[in-house]
Amino acid sequence: MAVPTIVVHGGAGRVAAANQETAVAGVREAARRGHEALRRGGCEAAAIAAVRWLEDAETFNAGRGACMTEDGRFEVDAGIMRSRDLRSGAVAAVRDLADPILVAQAVMEHGRHCLLVGEGAEAFARARGVGRFGRDGLWTAKAQARYDEATAGRSGAVGQADTVGAVAIDADGHLCAAGSTGGVLLKAHGRVGDSPLLGAGLYAHPALGAACATGVGEAIMTHVASYAALLAATRGLAPDEAAAEVCARVATFEVGAERATCGIIMLTPRGEVGIAHASPHMSWAVARGEGEPDLRAALRRDPG
Ligand code: GLY
Repeated sequence: MAVPTIVVHGGAGRVAAANQETAVAGVREAARRGHEALRRGGCEAAAIAAVRWLEDAETFNAGRGACMTEDGRFEVDAGIMRSRDLRSGAVAAVRDLADPILVAQAVMEHGRHCLLVGEGAEAFARARGVGRFGRDGLWTAKAQARYDEATAGRSGAVGQADTVGAVAIDADGHLCAAGSTGGVLLKAHGRVGDSPLLGAGLYAHPALGAACATGVGEAIMTHVASYAALLAATRGLAPDEAAAEVCARVATFEVGAERATCGIIMLTPRGEVGIAHASPHMSWAVARGEGEPDLRAALRRDPG
């Protein structure tokens, strides 16, 4: 038995002052919705409910609000994994898909493969009537402005990668991790980040717990960050310390002339929470409890 808990993040990076309040309110609401689903439908329903909410909230780089590729298009990634049977599903580099976590879940349920990409993922989704396709479902003025500024050379695109994600544990002790992202601003057509990759962007295992990473995908996959954080916790580190140790290691990876950003949220098999980031900000929220949850949300996880 475990205390039903969901942990949510809204991406590691720098959040502009004007967006900070909205980001914290967004992750708080995602955690509240996730916890409600946790009580009704278990950890998988919870992680999906939270990530779906964040995909529709245009503050975040996932679904509506996703950043653009170098040719001004949208290509999204998402993944989900559950501890109960170690099943997972993911999609990557799918064009104009507003709710990729639902297609990732359908891949998991279908069971034949773990990861579908590009046109193959789109064909799979359309054949099953899952997913909302269309540029209008993702486009926002904010993403257009970021794209215009970056292509005009007025702002750097390096290190501007974030994600939304959730990890949840239900009363039966089952765990689930899920994440969704627009990827890196000005990424190449076909580029895939960490979010759909097991071990890197997410992992869930009955003996290890569940983790979800955010930040620059190339750095996160190099360090297999989610799996590494869960392993570090089995070596006796407190979950916050385990997550912080891996974030610090990932941040040694250089992207252009800058250090990569990284954030990790995790739950141990006993339901202990770990949150850390190596970035100026990471919006996060935790909802925990049998009934009405104790709900906490913030933009930074300061040490101590
Ligand atoms: N973590 C998001 C990405 O690199 O695509």
